[in-house]
Amino acid sequence: MCGIVGVVGKLNATKVLLNGLAKLEYRGYDSAGIFVNDQGHEAVLIKRVGRIKNLQAAVPDTLTGTLGIGHTRWATNGKPTEANAHPHVSNDGRFYLVHNGVLTNAAELKDEYLSDVQFASDTDTEVAVQLVAKFVRDGATTKDALRHVMQLVQGSYAFALADKEDSDTLYVAKNKSPLLVGLGDGFNAVGSDALALLDQTDTFLELHDEELVVLTADGVRVENLAGEVQKRASYKVDVSEGAGELGAYPFYMLKEIDEQPVVLRRLLSNYTDADGQVNMPEELLAAMQQADRLYFVAAGTSYHASLVAAPLFEQLAGVPVTVAFASEFGYHMPLLSKKPLFVFLTQSGETADIRQVLVKVKALGLPSLTITNVPTSTLAREADFALSLHAGPEIAVASTKAYTAQVATCALLAQALGIYLNNDAAKQFDVAHKLTMIATAQQQLVDEKDQIHEFAQKMFKTTRNAFYIGRGSDYYLSLEAALKLKEISYIQAEGFAAGELKHGTIALIEENTPVVAIVSDPVTAAHTRANATEVQARGAAVMRIATESLAQPGDELVVPDTDPLLTPLVTIVPCQLLAYYASLDRGYDVDRPRNLAKSVTVE
Ligand code: F6R
Repeated sequence: MCGIVGVVGKLNATKVLLNGLAKLEYRGYDSAGIFVNDQGHEAVLIKRVGRIKNLQAAVPDTLTGTLGIGHTRWATNGKPTEANAHPHVSNDGRFYLVHNGVLTNAAELKDEYLSDVQFASDTDTEVAVQLVAKFVRDGATTKDALRHVMQLVQGSYAFALADKEDSDTLYVAKNKSPLLVGLGDGFNAVGSDALALLDQTDTFLELHDEELVVLTADGVRVENLAGEVQKRASYKVDVSEGAGELGAYPFYMLKEIDEQPVVLRRLLSNYTDADGQVNMPEELLAAMQQADRLYFVAAGTSYHASLVAAPLFEQLAGVPVTVAFASEFGYHMPLLSKKPLFVFLTQSGETADIRQVLVKVKALGLPSLTITNVPTSTLAREADFALSLHAGPEIAVASTKAYTAQVATCALLAQALGIYLNNDAAKQFDVAHKLTMIATAQQQLVDEKDQIHEFAQKMFKTTRNAFYIGRGSDYYLSLEAALKLKEISYIQAEGFAAGELKHGTIALIEENTPVVAIVSDPVTAAHTRANATEVQARGAAVMRIATESLAQPGDELVVPDTDPLLTPLVTIVPCQLLAYYASLDRGYDVDRPRNLAKSVTVE
């Protein structure tokens, strides 16, 4: 949700900003802007509505500078207009500010301190920059003015502030929203994530909440709110974590769907030995052994992956699991078990709703594990334990390979925990072999794209709504399949527990309403088939996706068999492809659906 980048020093600031913003575009893309201080020449502010490419087209090649800040926006306060785009500038034209986060008391601060100020935008950010200017006018230094703003504002922020009268100093501050400092030789930089700066540096400095940083070409000074200098070791980020190129693919989503078999194999090579035995950190297994219940707290697709993960832990490790939405859990925490352990499944590792739960869990002194695709992310750094998904950067907003990596990593961990607990079910569950077979099954399905494209054309070309139904893991898969379809094709799609349909929702079935029925569980296959027949009798256009051993003549798509606990790893592939082609055929930007952002850093 919004990406920020800033740089000071020997580099061409314009290039660093535009390159960094392009890498951060996944965080929001309704408008973008840069401010560049052109050392002794004119300081330049350029903003455009829409994608980074609109901004790039508006920036002249001749614009260089040694200090700059940039922003790509996902609107929270105020519509996506040029006036609301960042950087925001104080009325005296001296201070420029970019912001990621939400200031919840902006209106109150405006009334109390800035009643005589004419505002150019509807944003909370402008309040912050006008406050900086006011405090400087009142006699504060720029740094003290920013610190004063940090003391006054409530909510979340990552700020980068430029003072037009000082082209050598960049000020940044952070609370709850992600921000990293990138360290260079003769320059220093900041970014919402490491990806934005990997072309310039592989050395980073983590920032904590309520810290203020002063950056110059040769120095980085980190202070806490009390003004005390904070010492911290830097760390290296593997540059191979940089975003892969699109290559011959029209969209990242298709590339990432295709990558899933490779991701599974990579996970296996990271978490198993040559004999197929799973290796998980001993300290993590020991902590999990102590737990009487696992609480999976997640959002969106990662929540759906958690639902699939829960029975794996229950059946292989014999530990009960609760799965909860992070956005609910933090505020309505249920009565916890005596020895809970929290598991945060999160692709980005930055989801604000999860972070607020982690903060509460840590305050309670309870153990936590983050399973994420971004090992350097806030949630990975702050939890007691972290496991990597090894999926490689996921660029498309709709999550695909991270979902399968989440389910597979949980399967590996559940089995390792079961073995650690000497559980027979785990000993008999040859997870490495099963995942190897699933990788092959996924490969077969991604090779059948044309067939799935035809189904998408038949089912989704013109429909306004659609249903996915299933039971057990097929139901959890249905939730994810429906989310994929709706987020990129804008078709109103619902995933439904097949048996619940007749308790109300069946009233929505009309002539040609698409219903995709997932049949992969021998225990419930007959019932789900019966539910599919019921909607078909009422005019629905039914597509049955069945596993080989349960397939019947007339089933529209047959997918390879696997263990019923793991079938979502197989059945998700055609569902992801159905969503992809539905979006493509409707002419939408598959990778950048409207209103969404890849990393949701506001609560
Ligand atoms: C949908 C999607 C989102 C995310 C959700 C949580 O395709 O990607 O639903 O799953 O915003 O994000 P993470 O996993 O980064 O915590």
